[in-house]
Amino acid sequence: MLSPTVPDPGEDFVQLTGFLPHAELWLKLESRNPAGSIKMKTAAAMIGAAERDGLLRPGAELIESTSGNLGVAMAAICAARGYRLTLVTDPNSNYRSVQQMRALGAEVVVIERRDENGGYLGSRISYITLRLATEPGLIWLNQYENPANVAAHRDGTAVEICERFGVPDWLFVGVGTSGTLMGCLEHFGTLATRPTVVAVDALGSVTFGGAPARRLIPGMGASRKPKIFGPGEYRRVLVSERDTIVACRRIASGYGLLVGGSTGTVVAAASAHGHRLPRGSRVLAISPDLGSAYLDTIYDDGWVATHYGDGLLQDLTRPAREPVREEPVKAGT
Ligand SMILES: Cc1ncc(COP(=O)(O)O)c(C=O)c1O
Repeated sequence: MLSPTVPDPGEDFVQLTGFLPHAELWLKLESRNPAGSIKMKTAAAMIGAAERDGLLRPGAELIESTSGNLGVAMAAICAARGYRLTLVTDPNSNYRSVQQMRALGAEVVVIERRDENGGYLGSRISYITLRLATEPGLIWLNQYENPANVAAHRDGTAVEICERFGVPDWLFVGVGTSGTLMGCLEHFGTLATRPTVVAVDALGSVTFGGAPARRLIPGMGASRKPKIFGPGEYRRVLVSERDTIVACRRIASGYGLLVGGSTGTVVAAASAHGHRLPRGSRVLAISPDLGSAYLDTIYDDGWVATHYGDGLLQDLTRPAREPVREEPVKAGT
Protein backbone atom coordinates (compact mmCIF):
# COMPACT_ATOMS: atom_id res chain seq x y z
CA MET A 1 0.00 0.00 0.00
CA LEU A 2 1.35 3.39 -0.92
CA SER A 3 1.65 6.19 1.59
CA PRO A 4 0.14 9.59 0.93
CA THR A 5 2.97 11.26 2.90
CA VAL A 6 4.41 14.34 1.19
CA PRO A 7 8.21 14.68 1.51
CA ASP A 8 9.35 17.56 3.73
CA PRO A 9 10.70 20.52 1.77
CA GLY A 10 14.46 20.64 1.98
CA GLU A 11 14.77 16.99 3.03
CA ASP A 12 17.08 14.89 0.87
CA PHE A 13 16.38 11.53 2.52
CA VAL A 14 12.79 10.61 1.72
CA GLN A 15 10.99 7.43 2.74
CA LEU A 16 8.74 5.59 0.28
CA THR A 17 6.54 4.30 3.06
CA GLY A 18 4.90 0.98 2.30
CA PHE A 19 6.75 0.39 -0.99
CA LEU A 20 8.52 -2.71 0.36
CA PRO A 21 6.51 -5.27 2.31
CA HIS A 22 8.77 -5.70 5.36
CA ALA A 23 11.56 -3.16 5.01
CA GLU A 24 11.94 0.62 5.01
CA LEU A 25 12.80 2.03 1.59
CA TRP A 26 14.47 5.44 1.50
CA LEU A 27 15.69 7.57 -1.39
CA LYS A 28 18.71 9.84 -1.18
CA LEU A 29 17.66 12.67 -3.47
CA GLU A 30 20.61 14.05 -5.42
CA SER A 31 18.44 16.41 -7.45
CA ARG A 32 19.09 19.18 -4.95
CA ASN A 33 22.65 19.65 -6.17
CA PRO A 34 23.17 22.76 -8.31
CA ALA A 35 22.45 21.77 -11.94
CA GLY A 36 19.92 19.27 -10.63
CA SER A 37 21.69 15.93 -10.41
CA ILE A 38 24.32 13.78 -8.73
CA LYS A 39 26.63 14.62 -11.64
CA MET A 40 27.38 18.05 -10.19
CA LYS A 41 29.64 16.24 -7.72
CA THR A 42 31.49 14.42 -10.50
CA ALA A 43 31.84 17.55 -12.61
CA ALA A 44 33.07 19.66 -9.69
CA ALA A 45 35.55 16.97 -8.62
CA MET A 46 36.98 16.44 -12.12
CA ILE A 47 37.30 20.14 -12.92
CA GLY A 48 38.67 20.89 -9.44
CA ALA A 49 41.33 18.17 -9.79
CA ALA A 50 42.31 19.40 -13.26
CA GLU A 51 42.63 22.96 -11.96
CA ARG A 52 44.82 21.79 -9.08
CA ASP A 53 46.98 19.88 -11.56
CA GLY A 54 47.43 23.08 -13.59
CA LEU A 55 45.67 21.55 -16.58
CA LEU A 56 43.04 24.27 -16.97
CA ARG A 57 44.09 27.83 -17.77
CA PRO A 58 41.57 30.68 -18.25
CA GLY A 59 39.80 30.18 -21.58
CA ALA A 60 40.66 26.46 -21.68
CA GLU A 61 38.64 24.32 -24.07
CA LEU A 62 37.15 21.07 -22.84
CA ILE A 63 35.28 18.22 -24.49
CA GLU A 64 33.27 15.50 -22.74
CA SER A 65 30.98 12.61 -23.60
CA THR A 66 27.70 12.67 -21.70
CA SER A 67 24.23 11.16 -21.75
CA GLY A 68 22.88 14.31 -20.10
CA ASN A 69 23.43 15.15 -16.46
CA LEU A 70 27.23 15.38 -16.48
CA GLY A 71 26.98 17.68 -19.48
CA VAL A 72 24.57 20.03 -17.74
CA ALA A 73 26.76 20.08 -14.62
CA MET A 74 29.97 20.68 -16.59
CA ALA A 75 28.29 23.39 -18.64
CA ALA A 76 27.28 25.16 -15.42
CA ILE A 77 30.80 25.07 -13.98
CA CYS A 78 32.50 25.98 -17.27
CA ALA A 79 30.16 28.96 -17.70
CA ALA A 80 31.11 30.21 -14.24
CA ARG A 81 34.85 29.62 -14.79
CA GLY A 82 35.07 30.92 -18.35
CA TYR A 83 36.05 27.62 -20.00
CA ARG A 84 34.77 26.64 -23.43
CA LEU A 85 32.99 23.30 -23.56
CA THR A 86 31.86 20.87 -26.24
CA LEU A 87 29.48 18.12 -25.10
CA VAL A 88 29.12 14.96 -27.15
CA THR A 89 25.70 13.37 -26.71
CA ASP A 90 23.43 11.02 -28.65
CA PRO A 91 19.75 10.78 -29.66
CA ASN A 92 18.83 9.18 -26.30
CA SER A 93 19.88 12.29 -24.39
CA ASN A 94 16.87 14.12 -23.00
CA TYR A 95 15.85 17.12 -25.09
CA ARG A 96 15.52 19.19 -21.90
CA SER A 97 19.08 18.32 -20.86
CA VAL A 98 20.44 19.36 -24.26
CA GLN A 99 18.48 22.61 -24.01
CA GLN A 100 20.06 23.27 -20.61
CA MET A 101 23.57 22.54 -21.90
CA ARG A 102 23.06 25.03 -24.74
CA ALA A 103 21.47 27.62 -22.44
CA LEU A 104 24.59 27.39 -20.27
CA GLY A 105 26.78 28.15 -23.27
CA ALA A 106 28.09 24.71 -24.23
CA GLU A 107 28.36 23.53 -27.81
CA VAL A 108 26.43 20.26 -28.19
CA VAL A 109 27.32 17.60 -30.77
CA VAL A 110 24.75 14.81 -31.21
CA ILE A 111 26.28 11.56 -32.48
CA GLU A 112 23.73 9.59 -34.51
CA ARG A 113 25.88 6.56 -35.46
CA ARG A 114 25.53 3.50 -33.24
CA ASP A 115 28.64 1.62 -32.10
CA GLU A 116 29.31 -2.09 -32.59
CA ASN A 117 27.20 -2.89 -29.49
CA GLY A 118 24.19 -0.97 -30.74
CA GLY A 119 24.75 1.91 -28.30
CA TYR A 120 26.40 5.27 -28.84
CA LEU A 121 29.20 5.41 -26.27
CA GLY A 122 31.80 3.90 -28.59
CA SER A 123 30.86 6.36 -31.36
CA ARG A 124 30.90 9.31 -28.95
CA ILE A 125 34.37 8.35 -27.79
CA SER A 126 35.64 7.82 -31.35
CA TYR A 127 34.46 11.33 -32.16
CA ILE A 128 36.31 12.77 -29.15
CA THR A 129 39.48 10.84 -30.02
CA LEU A 130 39.38 12.29 -33.51
CA ARG A 131 38.91 15.84 -32.22
CA LEU A 132 41.78 15.40 -29.73
CA ALA A 133 44.07 14.21 -32.50
CA THR A 134 43.48 17.35 -34.54
CA GLU A 135 43.05 19.99 -31.79
CA PRO A 136 46.12 19.94 -29.54
CA GLY A 137 44.73 22.35 -26.88
CA LEU A 138 41.52 20.39 -26.33
CA ILE A 139 41.14 18.76 -22.89
CA TRP A 140 39.12 15.61 -22.17
CA LEU A 141 38.62 14.92 -18.47
CA ASN A 142 36.93 11.60 -19.36
CA GLN A 143 34.40 10.64 -16.71
CA TYR A 144 34.76 6.93 -17.61
CA GLU A 145 38.41 6.84 -16.49
CA ASN A 146 38.92 9.82 -14.20
CA PRO A 147 39.70 8.84 -10.57
CA ALA A 148 38.13 12.14 -9.44
CA ASN A 149 34.76 10.69 -10.51
CA VAL A 150 35.18 7.91 -7.91
CA ALA A 151 36.64 10.27 -5.29
CA ALA A 152 33.61 12.59 -5.62
CA HIS A 153 31.37 9.84 -4.28
CA ARG A 154 33.86 8.29 -1.86
CA ASP A 155 34.39 11.65 -0.14
CA GLY A 156 30.95 13.11 -0.91
CA THR A 157 27.95 10.84 -1.47
CA ALA A 158 29.08 7.98 0.79
CA VAL A 159 30.17 10.28 3.64
CA GLU A 160 26.87 12.19 3.42
CA ILE A 161 25.01 8.88 3.75
CA CYS A 162 26.98 7.91 6.85
CA GLU A 163 26.70 11.32 8.49
CA ARG A 164 23.10 12.17 7.69
CA PHE A 165 21.36 8.80 7.35
CA GLY A 166 23.65 6.28 9.02
CA VAL A 167 24.94 3.09 7.42
CA PRO A 168 21.94 1.47 5.72
CA ASP A 169 21.47 -2.32 5.79
CA TRP A 170 21.17 -2.38 2.01
CA LEU A 171 22.31 0.20 -0.52
CA PHE A 172 21.06 0.19 -4.13
CA VAL A 173 23.26 2.16 -6.56
CA GLY A 174 22.70 2.70 -10.26
CA VAL A 175 25.64 2.21 -12.62
CA GLY A 176 26.54 4.45 -15.55
CA THR A 177 30.22 5.28 -15.42
CA SER A 178 30.17 3.40 -12.05
CA GLY A 179 31.69 6.41 -10.28
CA THR A 180 28.95 6.44 -7.64
CA LEU A 181 29.22 2.69 -7.06
CA MET A 182 33.02 2.55 -6.87
CA GLY A 183 33.19 5.61 -4.61
CA CYS A 184 30.59 4.22 -2.20
CA LEU A 185 32.38 0.84 -2.12
CA GLU A 186 35.70 2.54 -1.35
CA HIS A 187 34.23 4.47 1.56
CA PHE A 188 32.09 1.67 3.00
CA GLY A 189 35.05 -0.69 2.63
CA THR A 190 36.83 1.28 5.37
CA LEU A 191 33.99 0.75 7.88
CA ALA A 192 33.47 -2.12 10.31
CA THR A 193 29.73 -2.18 9.57
CA ARG A 194 28.88 -2.13 5.87
CA PRO A 195 25.69 -2.20 3.88
CA THR A 196 24.97 -4.98 1.42
CA VAL A 197 25.60 -3.07 -1.79
CA VAL A 198 23.52 -3.84 -4.87
CA ALA A 199 24.83 -2.43 -8.16
CA VAL A 200 21.93 -1.90 -10.54
CA ASP A 201 22.30 -1.56 -14.28
CA ALA A 202 19.95 -1.41 -17.25
CA LEU A 203 19.30 -4.61 -19.18
CA GLY A 204 21.23 -4.27 -22.45
CA SER A 205 24.23 -2.58 -20.84
CA VAL A 206 27.53 -4.45 -21.19
CA THR A 207 29.14 -3.27 -17.94
CA PHE A 208 28.35 -6.47 -16.00
CA GLY A 209 29.29 -8.62 -18.97
CA GLY A 210 25.78 -9.13 -20.38
CA ALA A 211 24.75 -9.05 -24.02
CA PRO A 212 24.33 -5.59 -25.51
CA ALA A 213 20.83 -4.51 -26.48
CA ARG A 214 19.13 -1.32 -27.53
CA ARG A 215 18.31 1.03 -24.64
CA LEU A 216 16.44 4.32 -24.80
CA ILE A 217 16.60 5.76 -21.28
CA PRO A 218 19.74 7.82 -20.58
CA GLY A 219 21.73 7.90 -17.34
CA MET A 220 22.53 4.29 -16.62
CA GLY A 221 24.18 1.57 -18.63
CA ALA A 222 27.01 1.60 -21.15
CA SER A 223 27.75 -0.02 -24.48
CA ARG A 224 31.44 -0.14 -23.43
CA LYS A 225 32.61 -1.18 -19.97
CA PRO A 226 33.83 1.96 -18.15
CA LYS A 227 37.52 1.79 -17.14
CA ILE A 228 36.78 2.81 -13.53
CA PHE A 229 34.38 -0.13 -13.06
CA GLY A 230 35.99 -2.93 -11.11
CA PRO A 231 35.46 -5.85 -8.74
CA GLY A 232 34.33 -5.53 -5.15
CA GLU A 233 31.83 -6.81 -2.63
CA TYR A 234 28.51 -6.14 -4.30
CA ARG A 235 25.65 -7.91 -5.97
CA ARG A 236 24.64 -7.11 -9.52
CA VAL A 237 21.11 -6.71 -10.82
CA LEU A 238 19.88 -5.86 -14.29
CA VAL A 239 16.52 -4.14 -14.71
CA SER A 240 14.53 -3.82 -17.94
CA GLU A 241 13.47 -0.39 -19.16
CA ARG A 242 9.85 -1.56 -18.85
CA ASP A 243 10.31 -2.14 -15.10
CA THR A 244 12.08 1.22 -14.82
CA ILE A 245 9.05 2.96 -16.35
CA VAL A 246 6.60 1.08 -14.12
CA ALA A 247 8.57 2.06 -11.01
CA CYS A 248 8.89 5.74 -12.07
CA ARG A 249 5.17 5.95 -12.67
CA ARG A 250 4.37 4.25 -9.33
CA ILE A 251 6.60 6.66 -7.42
CA ALA A 252 5.15 9.69 -9.21
CA SER A 253 1.50 8.71 -8.81
CA GLY A 254 1.80 7.17 -5.33
CA TYR A 255 4.25 9.51 -3.62
CA GLY A 256 4.14 12.74 -5.60
CA LEU A 257 7.82 12.45 -6.47
CA LEU A 258 8.54 12.92 -10.16
CA VAL A 259 11.76 10.91 -10.32
CA GLY A 260 14.21 10.38 -13.18
CA GLY A 261 14.69 7.07 -14.98
CA SER A 262 17.55 5.67 -12.93
CA THR A 263 15.65 6.25 -9.70
CA GLY A 264 12.93 4.04 -11.12
CA THR A 265 15.59 1.48 -12.02
CA VAL A 266 17.10 1.25 -8.53
CA VAL A 267 13.67 1.22 -6.89
CA ALA A 268 12.53 -1.57 -9.24
CA ALA A 269 15.60 -3.58 -8.16
CA ALA A 270 14.87 -2.94 -4.46
CA SER A 271 11.23 -3.85 -4.97
CA ALA A 272 12.15 -7.12 -6.65
CA HIS A 273 14.38 -7.89 -3.63
CA GLY A 274 11.54 -6.98 -1.24
CA HIS A 275 10.76 -10.48 0.05
CA ARG A 276 14.48 -11.25 0.59
CA LEU A 277 15.16 -8.22 2.76
CA PRO A 278 15.07 -9.01 6.48
CA ARG A 279 12.06 -7.59 8.32
CA GLY A 280 12.71 -4.05 9.50
CA SER A 281 15.89 -3.52 7.45
CA ARG A 282 16.71 0.00 6.27
CA VAL A 283 17.18 0.11 2.53
CA LEU A 284 18.59 3.17 0.81
CA ALA A 285 18.48 3.80 -2.94
CA ILE A 286 20.41 6.68 -4.49
CA SER A 287 18.16 8.86 -6.65
CA PRO A 288 20.42 10.66 -9.19
CA ASP A 289 17.90 13.14 -10.62
CA LEU A 290 14.27 14.20 -10.90
CA GLY A 291 11.89 13.51 -13.76
CA SER A 292 11.25 16.85 -15.41
CA ALA A 293 13.73 16.01 -18.19
CA TYR A 294 11.81 12.76 -18.82
CA LEU A 295 8.34 14.26 -19.40
CA ASP A 296 8.58 13.59 -23.15
CA THR A 297 9.63 9.98 -22.61
CA ILE A 298 9.01 7.97 -19.41
CA TYR A 299 6.00 10.08 -18.43
CA ASP A 300 4.52 10.36 -21.93
CA ASP A 301 1.94 7.64 -22.70
CA GLY A 302 2.42 7.99 -26.46
CA TRP A 303 6.19 7.54 -26.21
CA VAL A 304 5.80 4.55 -23.89
CA ALA A 305 3.22 2.87 -26.14
CA THR A 306 5.35 3.48 -29.26
CA HIS A 307 8.51 1.99 -27.82
CA TYR A 308 7.26 -0.66 -25.38
CA GLY A 309 3.70 -1.40 -26.54
CA ASP A 310 0.24 -0.61 -25.14
CA GLY A 311 0.58 -3.54 -22.74
CA LEU A 312 3.08 -1.61 -20.65
CA LEU A 313 0.55 1.11 -19.92
CA GLN A 314 -1.71 -1.63 -18.49
CA ASP A 315 1.23 -3.05 -16.48
CA LEU A 316 1.45 0.25 -14.65
CA THR A 317 -1.24 -0.95 -12.27
CA ARG A 318 0.57 -4.25 -11.50
CA PRO A 319 3.46 -4.84 -9.03
CA ALA A 320 7.03 -4.81 -10.42
CA ARG A 321 8.42 -8.11 -11.68
CA GLU A 322 11.63 -9.92 -10.71
CA PRO A 323 14.87 -8.44 -12.07
CA VAL A 324 16.21 -10.25 -15.08
CA ARG A 325 19.42 -11.47 -13.53
CA GLU A 326 21.07 -11.33 -10.18
CA GLU A 327 24.41 -12.75 -9.11
CA PRO A 328 26.82 -12.18 -6.26
CA VAL A 329 30.06 -10.87 -7.72
CA LYS A 330 33.02 -13.28 -7.76
CA ALA A 331 36.33 -12.08 -6.35
CA GLY A 332 38.66 -10.87 -9.06
CA THR A 333 36.05 -10.36 -11.76
C1 LIG B 1 20.40 10.02 -14.15
C2 LIG B 1 21.64 9.26 -13.87
N1 LIG B 1 21.56 8.11 -13.20
C3 LIG B 1 22.65 7.36 -12.95
C4 LIG B 1 23.88 7.74 -13.35
C5 LIG B 1 25.05 6.84 -13.08
O1 LIG B 1 25.99 7.38 -12.24
P1 LIG B 1 27.51 6.94 -12.37
O2 LIG B 1 28.03 7.54 -13.64
O3 LIG B 1 28.17 7.50 -11.16
O4 LIG B 1 27.57 5.44 -12.41
C6 LIG B 1 24.01 8.92 -14.05
C7 LIG B 1 25.29 9.31 -14.59
O5 LIG B 1 25.39 9.91 -15.64
C8 LIG B 1 22.87 9.70 -14.32
O6 LIG B 1 22.95 10.86 -15.00
